[in-house]
Amino acid sequence: MSINNDKSDITKIYKFTENTNFNFERDIKLEQRNAWGLENEKQQLIDLLYYNKMENKLQEQLNLQKSNGIIINGAIGVGKSKSDSEINKMSILKDLEKMMEQIKNDNSIHVIGLTENKKFLPELFSKSQYFSNEINIDIPNRKEREIQLSYLLKDFLLDKSYVMNDEEENDNDNINLVEVYAKILSELTPGYVRKNLIQLCNLAKQHSFSRYNHTDNLEIDNIVDMLSSLSLQNQKKQEFIVNYNDFLYALSQIKLSNSIDFESKREKISWNDIGGYKEIVEKIQHLVRWPLLYPETYTKLGVKPPSGLILYGPSGCGKTLMINALSSDYSINFITVKGSEIMSKYLGESEQKIRKLFAQARKLTPCILFFDELDSIGTKRNWSDDGTGGVDERVLSTMLNEMDGIQERQGIFIIGCTNRPDLIDDALLRPGRFDHLIYIDMPNTEDRLDILKTITQPYNEEKMKLKNSKNIPNKKAVIDSSINLSLLAQRTNNFTGSDLVVLFRQAGINALHDDINSEKILLRHVEKALFPLTQKVQEREQDYDTQVLKNCYKKFYENHV
Ligand SMILES: Nc1ncnc2c1ncn2[C@@H]1O[C@H](COP(=O)(O)OP(=O)(O)OP(=O)(O)O)[C@@H](O)[C@H]1O
Ligand SMILES: [Mg+2]
Repeated sequence: MSINNDKSDITKIYKFTENTNFNFERDIKLEQRNAWGLENEKQQLIDLLYYNKMENKLQEQLNLQKSNGIIINGAIGVGKSKSDSEINKMSILKDLEKMMEQIKNDNSIHVIGLTENKKFLPELFSKSQYFSNEINIDIPNRKEREIQLSYLLKDFLLDKSYVMNDEEENDNDNINLVEVYAKILSELTPGYVRKNLIQLCNLAKQHSFSRYNHTDNLEIDNIVDMLSSLSLQNQKKQEFIVNYNDFLYALSQIKLSNSIDFESKREKISWNDIGGYKEIVEKIQHLVRWPLLYPETYTKLGVKPPSGLILYGPSGCGKTLMINALSSDYSINFITVKGSEIMSKYLGESEQKIRKLFAQARKLTPCILFFDELDSIGTKRNWSDDGTGGVDERVLSTMLNEMDGIQERQGIFIIGCTNRPDLIDDALLRPGRFDHLIYIDMPNTEDRLDILKTITQPYNEEKMKLKNSKNIPNKKAVIDSSINLSLLAQRTNNFTGSDLVVLFRQAGINALHDDINSEKILLRHVEKALFPLTQKVQEREQDYDTQVLKNCYKKFYENHV
């Protein structure tokens, strides 16, 4: 972070590292660099510097604490300086202490120290009065990443065809691609700090270069041609367009500096990818979004905000899908983990993973912490004969402890999904823990029609040609207009969303068997897939009582809103 302020009479910043012998001879100029995304922290620093310039008397009168030292605290790469430096030698520390004592009453000198973790600082910094001011730079949340990315991308030539969906394609002339890319990339980069974002943009750009300059035949003539095509005059702007795939490549290459161990990147799923369940979807949005975005409204009313939510219900009805969509919408970080990934056979490892996960969520607030397949962690306690709990017991109590620990902390919302609510220990469902329960039922006919509309698209010759020429994949099944979706919705009783997706996948395979060049799925392909699948679904329904599943939490409804 560099300070540049117009009214400044702070003209010099001296920088010292362990190699400096404290004669203040190095003069680092104030650079006109922008502290994009760090405006708050920059203001805090400037305020501190000016505050210390206030007259001593006034400070005494107001009984204000004064200190020449400021510590800027933040993980590697968040933007404390261009390069992080450290001071760790005892003799230097002694010198420094002496000097701090000397300048104690000098309002014109300030000492600023940067650190990744305040905990590891020598006592001189952490305990003494010399450095009693502190500025924290947090790992950026989604919104902040978006701002940083839009600065980084502002001179990029970006390709529009990969990121637009069909509707946007029609009127995309005025669309600001930098904004679109910044938003999409900010969603794909939880845990990234400014350094990683810069790296991401550079890598994507390099990758786009290699596409244009690549040649298999390095004969001397080709090299001459290639070099001349690189000269400035011949260089058409067109040739250096960076596309979405370049960014995907770059994303796959970057290792995070702040070791986020859990998979927090996610597939991009929007609310439009979910068919049916309109009321439930809206309820989930409010329940999770409000406490994270407007916590002060709850405190003002004296109401405890909801802290956790469990979605439960039969497999394949879109529970995971709904929560993933939730993650794509808001300026909220999102950590997702499967219960089975946490369970480890090694002693203590699962507990440690859970603690780490919560610690990470605390770093990334506002944050949604999503445990998919919660039943593998929150399994009912099964006391063994000798009175000691097994692995599950220890894991569960760690989970309960951590959940209680964050109760007072705003900014973390915990979500769990399961199709085996009967296995989940009741203790997890007490108020203050997972205190909201939503049952995701089998889709009714209306839901199924909406799901069918969501997962298919009618064949349109013009559009298909355009897309094929640009190599844009179709995300939805392309169907012939003779397929009546309403009728199909009525004929697919007891099908889940997942079954409907399978139906069209199978129909697509049937279409390809018919003709390897076919461009759309015909009614006969669906009919052929429908019969065996209907039989399977019926068999499943016979040994699956959704009513039991639904009522499993009945006793909790009295306790819950
Ligand atoms: N309402 C829906 N709209 C669109 N697609 C759906 C819907 N429900 C399910 N699907 C499709 O089925 C797939 C599986 O759904 P999902 O993983 O969300 O089910 P789930 O309820 O989490 O199941 P499980 O309990 O087995 O984890 C989704 O990836 C999606 O392709
Ligand atoms: Mg699921």
